[in-house]
Amino acid sequence: MTTKPSVAIILGTGLGKLADEIEITDSISYADIPNFPVSTVEGHSGKLIFGRLGGKDIMAMQGRFHFYEGYSMQEVTFPVRVMYELGIRTLFVSNAAGGMNPSFEIGTLMIITDHINFFPEHPLHGKNIPTGPRFPDMHEAYDKRLISLADAIAKEKGIKVEHGIYLGTQGPTYETPAEYRMYHLWGADAVGMSTVPEVIVAHHCGIRVFGISVITDLGVEGHIKEVTHEEVQQAADHAQPLMATIMGEMIRRAE
Ligand code: HPA
Repeated sequence: MTTKPSVAIILGTGLGKLADEIEITDSISYADIPNFPVSTVEGHSGKLIFGRLGGKDIMAMQGRFHFYEGYSMQEVTFPVRVMYELGIRTLFVSNAAGGMNPSFEIGTLMIITDHINFFPEHPLHGKNIPTGPRFPDMHEAYDKRLISLADAIAKEKGIKVEHGIYLGTQGPTYETPAEYRMYHLWGADAVGMSTVPEVIVAHHCGIRVFGISVITDLGVEGHIKEVTHEEVQQAADHAQPLMATIMGEMIRRAE
């Protein structure tokens, strides 16, 4: 392999198309990587991609692993450990999420400024892996400079973005109205079933993180209706070119 990426991207549900903009040099199916879990969800095709985006060497995970699929937290976050060992120092994560902030709409792009870990198991549970301390600080899990860069790019390109707090929960059920209300009272603006474990492990490895949620359904009182995986995918599909523009340009400009 000729690439030496220091930037990686994890593409969330329905958000795999950013991969089309990568000049791919190598693509490895998860099934061919020793110890790699294999993705089971529709919309996650399960490949590690190496190539160039925004003039930089990058690697991308097309398809991630979710706790609800039955993987342990160590399995869910194993790819981030691999990324670190390969030299990744900046990670871009994306996900589809339910929006609880009343000012959000379907298709809103929410830059993640912080998270609430509501998973029933912790990805750092067990013997500490010495990429970081036993008791990691989490006061800036999402890099402020990357957030400012995203804001500047969004403004320049006329793309509307919001800021908000992402709550990660195990799924696979979407929320009841009472759960959406509770999470919003806790201070969360969006809820989803991923991202938090990977971000915790990345942070523990000293990898700086930038995250975006695409709001695919609303958990706002008076606007709650049935949610299906297909609708989530469609809404994500719609927003993905905008997300791709922001992330591609960030990669071009980030040092
Ligand atoms: N809840 C949890 N996960 C999700 C949602 C939601 O409303 N939408 C997309 N992923």
